Amino acid sequence: MEGMVAKWYTTNTGKSLDEFAKLARRVANQLPRGSSVLEVAPGPGYFCVELAKLGSYSINGLDISHTFVEIASQKASEAGVSVDFRQGNVSDMPFATDTFDFLLCRAAFKNFGQPVRALQEMCRVLKPGGHGLIIDLRKNASMEAINHEVDGMGLGPINKVITKLTFRTFLLKTAYTRQQFQQMLAQANFRSVDIQEQGIGFEISLTK
Ligand SMILES: C[S@@+](CC[C@H](N)C(=O)[O-])C[C@H]1O[C@@H](n2cnc3c(N)ncnc32)[C@H](O)[C@@H]1O
Repeated sequence: MEGMVAKWYTTNTGKSLDEFAKLARRVANQLPRGSSVLEVAPGPGYFCVELAKLGSYSINGLDISHTFVEIASQKASEAGVSVDFRQGNVSDMPFATDTFDFLLCRAAFKNFGQPVRALQEMCRVLKPGGHGLIIDLRKNASMEAINHEVDGMGLGPINKVITKLTFRTFLLKTAYTRQQFQQMLAQANFRSVDIQEQGIGFEISLTK
């Protein structure tokens, strides 16, 4: 079952490769070559692969799913880039304190069983002065905005219906409000935090 869902997600999001490439360019524009980067919960690894194509970064991805680690590793080798994808839990990351210059967590935070602990771990593994970016759905995104977003994903008619239903029944229920994010972030040690509404989600910029 997990494998089936992982493959469905990989194919679906693979249709939005432009989005991942755009995000990678945005990150690369602000990140000196040679920087160490972590994607928390990379799933199929599209962002890491796109970033690796843009420069000589040291890139790690940590995902709890063995299936996704396999899929992401294969995507990297198909693209001829080097990314270290490992299996592990965001609540207890197998990385030393003060390791990364930049960290991304996209479309995954709402799935974490211990969200405060996840933020504390993200803060721990960032270098002092390092930056984090969390992108996730916001609880008050309207169904109209979500439908519009899904319509732009390039999916076939059946997948479109399934994806809209997934947002409505599952994703929105687990999404957080701005206030909930603020309360959780107050329990981690970031030096600065900025929460912006962007489309159907939040973009949360963090500095350690
Ligand atoms: C919806 S996918 C997002 C994948 C990717 N970031 C993207 O933007 O397409 C959510 C990912 O979170 C991972 N995940 C869920 N809980 C996790 C945890 N506690 N630690 C690490 N990864 C986790 C899942 O295995 C899955 O790969």
